[in-house]
Amino acid sequence: MIGHLLSAADLDRDDATLVLDTAAQMAAVSGREVKKLPTLRGRTVVNLFYEDSTRTRISFEAAAKRLSADVINFGAKGSSVSKGESLKDTALTLQAMGADAVVIRHPASGAPHRLAAWVAGSVVNAGDGTHEHPTQALLDAYTMRSRLGRVDGLRVAIVGDVLHSRVARSNVLLLATLGAQVTLVAPPTLLPVGVDAWPSEVAYELDPVLGKADVVMMLRVQRERMNQSFFPSAREYSRRYGLDGRRMALLPEHAIVMHPGPMNRGMEITPQVADSARSTIVEQVTNGVSVRMAVLYLLLSGGTKEAFREG
Ligand code: NCD
Repeated sequence: MIGHLLSAADLDRDDATLVLDTAAQMAAVSGREVKKLPTLRGRTVVNLFYEDSTRTRISFEAAAKRLSADVINFGAKGSSVSKGESLKDTALTLQAMGADAVVIRHPASGAPHRLAAWVAGSVVNAGDGTHEHPTQALLDAYTMRSRLGRVDGLRVAIVGDVLHSRVARSNVLLLATLGAQVTLVAPPTLLPVGVDAWPSEVAYELDPVLGKADVVMMLRVQRERMNQSFFPSAREYSRRYGLDGRRMALLPEHAIVMHPGPMNRGMEITPQVADSARSTIVEQVTNGVSVRMAVLYLLLSGGTKEAFREG
């Protein structure tokens, strides 16, 4: 059986720690002049992106190339998908080409799970609809650990459009596994049904949460997924849930500010905050490559595959 990474819930504490430790070793390689390892030479990684992406797509491509894998980038635009080819037929094509791993981003929640049933290789979920984005959660945990020295016991506020955010869901799952305390801060209209069952707290006001937070993770307001009005105006949203200089000053001295990108500067975060010394936004991108190298390595390098639950 081949391992997959479909959900942050696939990882127990040991698995997640192994990914973070392996990522730290990969980061050491990324700091060298020659950034390549021969580990995945002769293996094929397909990036299958049905939804727009900058960071995640480039990051997976860089990660696979640094491990010397052959990389095939497949975008829905300009492929037979625009002629109506189904995910299953595309999967069978990839299968016929001998893909060892398929990294998939798809607007439909659950698409990576379906794909895992149709291909022989490992499937990595790079974001499915409003559902999950496990490698983002891993790179966020890695960033917390490298800035603050640990994840266990950290108080993390995740703020904004939780309803449409796969980043929030994967982070809540992974952070709970790693022992952090998560508080979701959002207007009631931007919280999903069933959030009470998540391993996190909920707050509707931002200011009272900030004084005790070690980490504030701002989420992008996902207008492209909004088919109705979830708040009165952009101005009103920023006033209540945006992170600006005044609010940042309420944070403890050591606290960091995160954002998965892409940012709506001026909406959920002001440029002053995004570009401040507390912001880890650029570091998150750098760490993403190391974390994705670790995931591909652990899934594809034979012996350590048991690190992940069987798909
Ligand atoms: C996120 C995504 O696509 O889910 N971005 C990312 O992967 N860096 C978050 C977002 O789009 O807001």
